[in-house]
Amino acid sequence: MSSIAFTNIETLVTNDVSAGEGALGVLHNATVVVEDGLISQITQTRPSGVDSEVDCSGKTLLPGFVDSHSHLIFAGDRADEFAARSQGAKYTAGGIASTVKATRAASDDDLRQNAQRLLNEALSTGTTTMEIKSGYGLTEKDELRSLAIASEFTDETTLLAAHVIPEEFESNPDGYVELIINSIIPKSKAKWIDAFCDLGAFNPEQSEAILRAGVAAGMQVRIHANQLSAGVGVALAVALDAASADHVSKSTNADIELLASSNTVATLLPGAEFSTHLQSGLGRRFLDAGATVAIASDCNPGSSYTTTIPFCIATAVSLLGFTVEEAVKAATLGGAQALRRTDIGMVSVGKRADLVLLNTPSYIHLAYRPGVNLVHTTYKSGRAVTSWQK
Ligand code: NIG
Ligand code: FE
Repeated sequence: MSSIAFTNIETLVTNDVSAGEGALGVLHNATVVVEDGLISQITQTRPSGVDSEVDCSGKTLLPGFVDSHSHLIFAGDRADEFAARSQGAKYTAGGIASTVKATRAASDDDLRQNAQRLLNEALSTGTTTMEIKSGYGLTEKDELRSLAIASEFTDETTLLAAHVIPEEFESNPDGYVELIINSIIPKSKAKWIDAFCDLGAFNPEQSEAILRAGVAAGMQVRIHANQLSAGVGVALAVALDAASADHVSKSTNADIELLASSNTVATLLPGAEFSTHLQSGLGRRFLDAGATVAIASDCNPGSSYTTTIPFCIATAVSLLGFTVEEAVKAATLGGAQALRRTDIGMVSVGKRADLVLLNTPSYIHLAYRPGVNLVHTTYKSGRAVTSWQK
């Protein structure tokens, strides 16, 4: 048995409202004891008999960030597309095709190394859990190899063969839907099934057929919904009891009410809002309606090329109408809820000791010092980690 104590924590975010102050359940000058990777004690007194101690004077300890939405299995980048947007071009689903081309041409090792690089970035900025989607292969072979590589890094893998219709199926989109349902889904070992139900991607009927086939094969649902257009994405997510409806940028008030009265989390993607078509104040509408809200990176080479959750928190606060507390909660507990995980996202007894230690006296600095990496150390299951491992 190994134990570690985090002592003299200036600010501890527990996300347990019964344990401390305010919406984040904050404690001051607390100690957290970890035994065999799990939190065993939260106390105001000095523990004895622990194997090691981390003095957290002047620092903030909070649950590691849970990034519930990323597209890390790809090759190449689309910097030119980003630059064109700075000159007025609009973001559309069309750009995905160029990443599909580069991804198909890449070796397994190229894809693996690129994902590892991005995961190391995420880890160094406090992320401890990451969901990873396929979606830039769009053939049976390339979708399954994307999932296989993703599964080397995380158990939160998502089949997104329904990202866009690949070029070779342009004149026969339903043929691609059949390929997904009859050939890719039966061989997928992913935990989640996802579909981009939107303009230029999959229509509601195609999305529903794919998602239902995924459920029949044992996967759970999450959806790219209402990113580019108003539509039935959110309603479909709720009807299928999806864990999460993601983007939700073009949601109507009725969509928001529907989400608020469901078990489906609204996952907002501040990086995508920042890089494409910002819906100012978007988060406030969901928060005021009482929806459960998560924040994730959406890391991908097109709409949101960031792995950095503190940047997403700062953006959510400055542009999407979140309070600092709401944003921090959405990036930790909210992410866990979007993955239907109860073992992470909180600092309380029995939870996994996935933690991030900040160099700052308060979590407020996550939004107050945008673009500055404030992370002192990231811990997975109580171990300080410097390179991403599952
Ligand atoms: O979540 N919206 C669909 N998929 C990604 C973007 C993919 C891309 O542009 O390469 C997203 O934003
Ligand atoms: Fe996405």
